[in-house]
Order: sequence, then C-alpha cells, then structure tokens
Amino acid sequence: MIDVGQVGLSKWLAATQLSHTIQTTTWIIPSLQTIHILSVAAVFSAVVLVDLRIWRLLQRDEPLPDVARRFLPTIWPVLLILLVTGSLLIIGEPRRSLINPTFYLKMALLAVAIVLTAGLQGSISSSPNFWDGTRGRRIAGRVAAAASILVWCGILFAGRWIAYTQAG
Ligand code: HEM
Repeated sequence: MIDVGQVGLSKWLAATQLSHTIQTTTWIIPSLQTIHILSVAAVFSAVVLVDLRIWRLLQRDEPLPDVARRFLPTIWPVLLILLVTGSLLIIGEPRRSLINPTFYLKMALLAVAIVLTAGLQGSISSSPNFWDGTRGRRIAGRVAAAASILVWCGILFAGRWIAYTQAG
C-alpha cells in the first residue's frame, strides 16, 4: 500500500521551510492538535445528537428536521478546519501519516462518514418526513444512524492510532 511516491512526498515535505518551522517552533504542533481535537468534538457531538434523535433517544419532543437543521450545517465548516489543521500536522511530521496505513484507513472512513452525513442531511432537507414515512424507512434511518456513529468512532480511533502505528 505504501509506495515510493509516498516516501518521496514525505521526504520532500519534511525538507520544506514550512515543515521546518512547524518542527522547530515548539507551540505550533500542540496548538494545531488542540484546534484539531476541539473541531473533532464539535463534529462528533453534532453528528451524535442527530443520530440519537433518529433513534428517539434524545430530544423526542423536537421534530427531526429541526434537530438536523440546527446541528448538521455546522459540520462542513468545521471539517474544513480539520482539513487545514490535519494538513499542517502532516506537513510538520509527514512520515507519521503519509507512510502509515492507519492514516489511509482514517481517510477512507472519513469519506464514508461524509457520504452518510451528507445523505442524511440531503434526505431530510428535500423531504422533512423522509425517515418517518414508512416502517421500512424508520428502520433504515436507525441503521444509517447506527452506522454513522460507528464510522465516526472509527475515525476517532484511527486518528489516535496513527501515533502507535507510525513507520520507525
Ligand atoms: C479532514 C481531514 C483530516 C486530516 C488531514 C487529519 C489529519 C490528522 C493528523 C495528521 C493527525 C496527527 C496524527 C499523529 O501524528 O498522531 C490527526 C490526529 C487526529 N485526528 Fe485527524 N485529520 C482529519 C480529520 C479528522 C476528523 C474528521 C476526525 C474525527 C472526527 C479526526 C480525528 C483525529 C483524532 C482523534 C486525532 C488524534 C489527536 C491526538 O491524539 O492528538 N481527524 N489527524
């Protein structure tokens, strides 16, 4: 899975001025990690609140479209912050991620999570009662919500795991 291109890219990135600045300025990496983690908390709470509403475990007295409208739109700008902080962390220590299969697992799970979340948001905004229409849809909604929680947890796990699976 890891090829010469990824090794070459990580060597090239490590030699750039930006990488050097990130590596040698002690406060940059902890600050980026702090912003990354705060953004993770924001995205994860928004997703879980909506998923638990689909399961009718939270905010039962509030219609699902209202809950979705309140929380889901915040995810997209915060994902952008995750992309920027994550990319800067990679530039600072390219080998930790670019030569590490766990990082690619995290990105693959992220792609699945984005499709699931966008699908959920799109279906609710185009048809507010979509997931309540029939018994089949209610079950499908619960399956999608459970899958969403599992996939986002997988991203959290893989994000933490990167540190323990990096190439020597
Ligand atoms: C959008 C693109 C993203 C990129 C490029 C990215 C990249 C990174 C990088 C490079 C690290 C540092 C890993 C290390 O060196 O140990 C990291 C850590 C982490 N990421 Fe991301 N990430 C992204 C999105 C996300 C998302 C969406 C989540 C979860 C919702 C997430 C959760 C985490 C967690 C939990 C850590 C561990 C932080 C720590 O222990 O300090 N990341 N990420």
